[in-house]
Amino acid sequence: MKYLLQLSICLLLMVGAAAQQGPRRAIDFNKGWRFCLGDAASSKEPAFNDKTWRLLDLPHDWSIEGRFDSTHPAGNAGGALPGGTGWYRKTFTLENVTAENNVRIEFDGVYRDAEVWINGHYLGKWPYGYTSFDYDLTPYIHTGAKKNVIAVKVNNSRQPNSRWYTGSGIYRDTRLVITKKTAFEHWGTFVYTTEGYDGQITFHATSNVLNLATRKPGVKVTCTLFDPSGKQVAALGGTPDAQAGSFRFKTALKDPALWSVATPALYKAVFKIFDSEQLTDEWETAFGVRYFSFDAQKGFSLNGIPMKIQGVCMHHDLGALGAAFNRSAARRQLRILKEMGVNAIRTAHNSPDPQFLDLCDEMGFLVMDESFDMWAKKKNKYDYYNDFPEWHRRDLEHMVKRDRNHPSVFMWSIGNEIREQFDSTGITLAKELVNIVKALDTTRPVTCALSENRPDKNFIYQSKALDVIGLNYHIEAYEDFPKNYPGEKFIATENVSGLATRGYYDGPADSLRLWPSGSKFKYVEKGNPDYTVSAYDNVAAYWGSTHEQTWRIIKKHDYLSGLFVWSGFDFLGEPVPYPYPARSSYYGIVDLAGFPKDVYYMYQSEWTDQPVLHMAPHWNWKNGQAVDVKVYYNQADEAELFLNGHSLGKRKKNDTSFHVLWRVPFEPGALKVVSRKNGKTVLERTVHTAGLPAKIALEIENPVLQQHREDLAFVTIRVLDRDGNLVPGASNEVQVTSSAAAAVIAMDNGYQADLASFQTSRRKVYNGLGLAIIKGLRTGMATITVTAPGLEPATIQIRVKE
Ligand code: GAL
Repeated sequence: MKYLLQLSICLLLMVGAAAQQGPRRAIDFNKGWRFCLGDAASSKEPAFNDKTWRLLDLPHDWSIEGRFDSTHPAGNAGGALPGGTGWYRKTFTLENVTAENNVRIEFDGVYRDAEVWINGHYLGKWPYGYTSFDYDLTPYIHTGAKKNVIAVKVNNSRQPNSRWYTGSGIYRDTRLVITKKTAFEHWGTFVYTTEGYDGQITFHATSNVLNLATRKPGVKVTCTLFDPSGKQVAALGGTPDAQAGSFRFKTALKDPALWSVATPALYKAVFKIFDSEQLTDEWETAFGVRYFSFDAQKGFSLNGIPMKIQGVCMHHDLGALGAAFNRSAARRQLRILKEMGVNAIRTAHNSPDPQFLDLCDEMGFLVMDESFDMWAKKKNKYDYYNDFPEWHRRDLEHMVKRDRNHPSVFMWSIGNEIREQFDSTGITLAKELVNIVKALDTTRPVTCALSENRPDKNFIYQSKALDVIGLNYHIEAYEDFPKNYPGEKFIATENVSGLATRGYYDGPADSLRLWPSGSKFKYVEKGNPDYTVSAYDNVAAYWGSTHEQTWRIIKKHDYLSGLFVWSGFDFLGEPVPYPYPARSSYYGIVDLAGFPKDVYYMYQSEWTDQPVLHMAPHWNWKNGQAVDVKVYYNQADEAELFLNGHSLGKRKKNDTSFHVLWRVPFEPGALKVVSRKNGKTVLERTVHTAGLPAKIALEIENPVLQQHREDLAFVTIRVLDRDGNLVPGASNEVQVTSSAAAAVIAMDNGYQADLASFQTSRRKVYNGLGLAIIKGLRTGMATITVTAPGLEPATIQIRVKE
């Protein structure tokens, strides 16, 4: 508490100090807010006494702090966590702000119905919880030593309003932006490149200056370009168009370094405004030089090179951290997906945190940026359908304006499984939404994720407004796509919906179970009593298909430009096929804690150049039990399995299967698999029958932390037997402690029906694995110790830097 108080005092000073610098100051406004869960209208009054309210830093999600309960109105589809109404207040001074300045506050995302007051003055309301928005504070602020109070009411009490977990609160960053009066418009600069027929790359930019028409003719704008090594490659003066309020730039780029998923080269453009030779604003953006095309026969290509889109759908939550955005956690998710061979992300079904796109730019992912899960027809009683008529234009415009400079963003999606596809209102609305996008960006195709695969029945398709046809599921329709949609370009916006619990197996591995089995069932009729689902890639929702079936057809035809698997990670909410206490999804290729399920390695063997050999399941069964052993491999022409030194035979994949399988009567011991090419061993893997839990082993990602809150370390906890084998069914409760420099902020184990809070330092591992998430508190070394009764403990070091 004392630490936080010091921080907020510090912040008051910081706002003043930052005001000394350049013409534009973007000030982190996340620290030192007061929060109260509950509602009281007087909270908006500047004089309201908020001293008893909790002091916290943003981003913040109050839902993840609550208890899981079947009675929460979001239901288990919403993660079985509470919603409600909450207030945030922040008191601050603006020491070096004068009448020459404009002051704006930016919110990257507030879920939902955010209402904002500055010094008692009502600024407005923003219903949609995924849109970034801002307010001009200039007319209402106090400068100098006089205090300002900003109050934000967040109302997520009307439930259910989503088909997945949303989180509640100011769950993304906020900042204050202080500029001179002659300044760039917010999101008013659009940067892109084009490729001519001769292969020549041209850079273009349009930059809007606030109230340009009313300014003196002495206003000039310049644009300087830097290549990825930081070398200046162009210095441009803009052509003014006072009527449009903008300046235009254009120049040829010679032999540019291209942005691609393998080499995400980033350029920088710096824009400056000079008013009568005085510098009045400066703004910069990263950009990438890349071109791509969709072709009705040949599929997708990036920079002229054919490329299958190997994508996954991702919701916005970060597992145990809830919806509160965290850059380290998002980077970890993307790192895990990158290593699997994923090259594209669909942000289901809303625009992501802007930093997520920065990470995709830097790490090399293509992004399908999606706007809505519903238009004017609802999916849930209190969802966005009610706001859609009044707000869709603003929400869509904000998404496109905010995100259009990112090289990672390669297409826009105007919706997911929209109800209007089933009647003629789909035609009008699809046209309108596509026009809104095209008025702001014509460099990217627009799609919509359609669930009705018959062209004659799909009115959004019939609008003819889509550049690329996005189909969800119905892989049986892919073969006939060219016949049924002549001349159209294809993307599988969503498919699979395979279900699995990490480390749990029900045979036979080669027969598909549909859970639930059909539309008349909400849940699986006869599931497992512990809410598990087999991880052999042998279970899918009835509308879905296995990972392997789906990839097989996508791989087969060039015209199928690629897919977005539902889903990359497990996410909170939508725990098909089970009712409560299941509270997070089974769809992920990776579990909620970030531990890959087995099918991860099927993709890795198909989607990457690295040698893969992966065997499932574990080797702890009943004597004599027939156990299916499934092996994924690549870069080899066969695999051979050995049980306690005896060969169980060689197996080869054929053109259409991506695994090999043995049915083995269990006996304890060592199960070994060897992959070979031309008779030479490529890789070997052995799994031993594990004994009783005896010790703990730790592994850390991100062991050096910045002191500020956003930087996190991720500690994987493994429960091993005396010989170092992972104990497959281990569920020991582990306690994690840290010395003073760091603290445990959350734990997880990836089990979908675990009702223990994530906000804890004590938790059971699941199938042998657990995760602890650590933040730095003060500079120095921190020792993290993990203990459990009866087990040999383990420690690991973290360094916290200034
Ligand atoms: C799709 C939907 C996704 C998710 C998925 C689960 O139809 O677009 O949001 O609900 O089903 O299988």
